[in-house]
Amino acid sequence: MLTLGQKKDIRQILRKHETPFYVYWEKQILDKIQCLKRAFLPKIPRSIFCYSMKSCFCPAIVQIPLNEGLWLDCSSGGEIAFALRAGASPDRIIYTSIVKQEPELAFAITKGIDILSIDSFSDMEKIYRVAKSLETLTGVLIRVNPAVDSDPRVESGVITTGHQRSKFGVSLWQNEGQCDSAEHLVREILSARADHLKLKGFHFHLGSNLLDVSLHGKAVQVVLNFCQRLRNLGLGFEMRYLDIGGGFPPEETMPISTWATVIEKALRETTQPPDFDLIVEPGRYLVYQGVLVSTVSNIKFNPYAGTIAVLDTGYHHLLDSILAGQTYRVSCLKQDERGGQAEYHLVGRLCDSLDEFTNLTTKGRHREQPLNTTRVGLPMLREGDRIIFEQCGAYSTVLNTHFNAFPSPAIFLVREDGAIDMVRQRTSEEDLYLSEGGDFL
Ligand SMILES: Cc1ncc(COP(=O)(O)O)c(C=O)c1O
Repeated sequence: MLTLGQKKDIRQILRKHETPFYVYWEKQILDKIQCLKRAFLPKIPRSIFCYSMKSCFCPAIVQIPLNEGLWLDCSSGGEIAFALRAGASPDRIIYTSIVKQEPELAFAITKGIDILSIDSFSDMEKIYRVAKSLETLTGVLIRVNPAVDSDPRVESGVITTGHQRSKFGVSLWQNEGQCDSAEHLVREILSARADHLKLKGFHFHLGSNLLDVSLHGKAVQVVLNFCQRLRNLGLGFEMRYLDIGGGFPPEETMPISTWATVIEKALRETTQPPDFDLIVEPGRYLVYQGVLVSTVSNIKFNPYAGTIAVLDTGYHHLLDSILAGQTYRVSCLKQDERGGQAEYHLVGRLCDSLDEFTNLTTKGRHREQPLNTTRVGLPMLREGDRIIFEQCGAYSTVLNTHFNAFPSPAIFLVREDGAIDMVRQRTSEEDLYLSEGGDFL
């Protein structure tokens, strides 16, 4: 729930700026960083925290975890360029992507990035080729698929990527006649490719907004048992890192300490004490508390759907609502205190019938309450009232689209001392026109 102070900040922004816009509070991100450290460090002192910048790569937001000493997880040459320009040190960047094009690899390796996560045999060959052409020794992790999945109940907003059929990583088990297995990659890197690749450990990532805390424990055990098997086969190497990815849901859904407890138990049962660093790589958990502020533009009545409030935003600003059935808590800022409650169907302004907000709540989501609602009870609305989508700071600004030639909204950051900075401007019509090739005419 938004605090009175946050509502005041939003009203202050509204005095000068039009909706829609996003707002983040620096203090909330700093608090989450502290929660993360407090949860993991006492249990697993050799934890390294790494912000997965795909969740929000606005440079001013990236700088917050960076200034707190976090590493960065990058998924493309573009994200690496952002990370470096935001001030990241190359030896604190991890480059993970299912495909890394050779120019991106050359850029990353030349800049000094020394932890590249290999996703397949062909990915390894590419990294090897580039490292060889640059006459360098490059550090790599192998991204493995631990084949663990959440319980079969499909929950909206939960994304899993460590299941058997996932496109990410390589199998931990031998695939007859296939080179895409972790053991085969280890053998290659430790022998034929040892002149330009140095194996530093393993990596997995199980999904996003996960609710099944046992998955991380199972995956840690599966990977560490695999390491033991390698040692038994005489394929030992100095394992510096085990990267367990991210995937943690908002603190309100499940405290981060629950995950730390399960992971520590899995480590304790498999290796004692761990002689490697554990990389914890959250994105969503650090930035989810950002909000999107919109305005009720039209109110209309449909005899079958009931009262429809049409907002000046849409799925182009909350694409995950369509892609992953993401859940949002909504609240409103009214122009006056006229009473009464009503049920609304909230829809966006795009010329697309998919542009309707489902999975809404005014109370927040708890594990026991999967949502599937298209209507939401709100104080009686008038045109001009504000609707605020809460907890949408992750995977929203980065997924903005320009459908219907709409600009990307501005992003505001409320600093710890209360100052409010516009850290991303709304795309101008001119920039949008040019980015679509307008200068060709
Ligand atoms: C490799 C990797 N690490 C970390 C993350 C961050 O996940 P989340 O934002 O759910 O914490 C992702 C997200 O997709 C990822 O692909």
